[in-house]
Amino acid sequence: MDSPHAQQPSSDGPARSLDSLPRMPDVGLLGSFGFTTQERLAFQRKLAEQTAPLVRGRVMHLPVYFPCTPEVAHEVLVTRAKSFEKSPGFRVLLHYLAGQGLFTSEGSLWRTQRKMMSTLFQPQPIQRYADTMREVAERAADRMKDGDSIDVAHETTRIAMSVVGKALFDVDTFDEADSLGAALTTALGWVNRNLGSPALVAHVLGMDAAGALADRTSGRVRTWFQDAQQKLEAPFMLPGVRDPALLSAVRLVDDRIQRMIDDRRKQGLTRQDLLTMLLTAKDPEGANEHMSDKQVRDEAVTLFVAGHETTATALAWSFYLLARNPALLEKARAEADAFGDGPITKWDPSKLEFCTRVFREAMRMYPPLMLLPRRTLEPVEVAGYQLPAKSLVFVSIYAQHYREDAYPDPEAFDPDRWLPEREALRHRTSYLPFSAGPRFCIGVHFAMLEGPIVLATLLRRWRFEIDASRKIEPDDFATLRPKGGVPAVVRAR
Ligand code: HEM
Repeated sequence: MDSPHAQQPSSDGPARSLDSLPRMPDVGLLGSFGFTTQERLAFQRKLAEQTAPLVRGRVMHLPVYFPCTPEVAHEVLVTRAKSFEKSPGFRVLLHYLAGQGLFTSEGSLWRTQRKMMSTLFQPQPIQRYADTMREVAERAADRMKDGDSIDVAHETTRIAMSVVGKALFDVDTFDEADSLGAALTTALGWVNRNLGSPALVAHVLGMDAAGALADRTSGRVRTWFQDAQQKLEAPFMLPGVRDPALLSAVRLVDDRIQRMIDDRRKQGLTRQDLLTMLLTAKDPEGANEHMSDKQVRDEAVTLFVAGHETTATALAWSFYLLARNPALLEKARAEADAFGDGPITKWDPSKLEFCTRVFREAMRMYPPLMLLPRRTLEPVEVAGYQLPAKSLVFVSIYAQHYREDAYPDPEAFDPDRWLPEREALRHRTSYLPFSAGPRFCIGVHFAMLEGPIVLATLLRRWRFEIDASRKIEPDDFATLRPKGGVPAVVRAR
């Protein structure tokens, strides 16, 4: 349903001039993107206050359009999705790590891969990982002792990394102590450092300029610009890209995954892990072919990266928010205790209903991914404005989650916002932790199974003494992590 305060875009009548769009004040030298997390968050809070459907900001000299209302976010992500691509920055940064995996690919490759992989991520096949999720969380709980000082965010990262490692590669003791886990963490660290950097913006501008010049020239000159554009898909000019630690991390990822692929083949593709399923998947509507080894490698790394940091972050905030709200913490514990000593295996929505609402509300307040960067592929009308091709349009998940009209008192942690009758009053696109439209998160069922199971499993075993008087600020890198982690002392229950 539509939110009552939103201005409706005029879909009939002539498109309005872009000059009439409200402009957001700059927050830093880069324009709408400050250098610090606090500047970035402050900008998005301002976005949340806008009543206009669409506003304009800038990144360096480039205009950027920000949908403000859920209706206009819906236009960009869902109804007009065909006219948009992801902005190329992510693709460049993830070039060596995730290559042409689902997160970064576009066009027909993305469509084929999404179709082939969707069946693996439906709610029913995902249920098979419930035991793994509980066992990994139990193992983490077994390692803790009364009086231990821990960082909850570090623990949830280890758990989420192990869960996805087991699901993908059927390896039991997979965490950042594993060399593959460590290599991926090194490579992700480099991605984090370059995200939104002026060097990345300049790199993408160079890539676009080469493309534009290729369009305007012919013959050998055209081929030269096309090659240059192609080469610029790789981030070879970005700072730190030749760091030996990064290079050896990427080499290790390549070698380890190729070895696992070879092992699976030798064993006759009989294992039950996602890697084997990727190797055996076929596109029934296409040429009925398997993916190449390189494509399987890219998809495996993509799933590994996309599938642990996000869930771990959402879980860490869930524990922190519960610690600051003792009555809600008791309620979540009571729900976990209701399982007695039996395993929390099947995620039954009626049984982990409150933990699910806690997890959802934590993702509202601290969406692991804060922004969805898009670029128009062609001229397209949004909110009644005609945007030219190659316009940058950024949907702020964070701003949607802090709109007062959708979430009264948005600073309050209130899992009851997710009671069905209250949820039904909001526009669907008011809640976007997993995005919306064709590019929405393929791992949503996985994450929504894992979050409540891990939360309940740990709550059942231990009390985590977290200094509730200390406000933890978010740190916006690749995900909206708790800055400095979530320090806690483990106490017996
Ligand atoms: C709380 C946990 C998670 C959150 C908040 C989350 C969030 C998101 C978001 C917002 C996107 C869309 C990005 C965009 O459109 O620019 C996305 C895409 C994706 N996510 Fe997740 N994710 C989570 C867990 C997972 C898990 C567990 C997996 C896999 C095991 C996964 C795999 C992917 C993949 C492959 C894509 C790209 C999909 C495509 O473009 O077709 N995610 N995720």
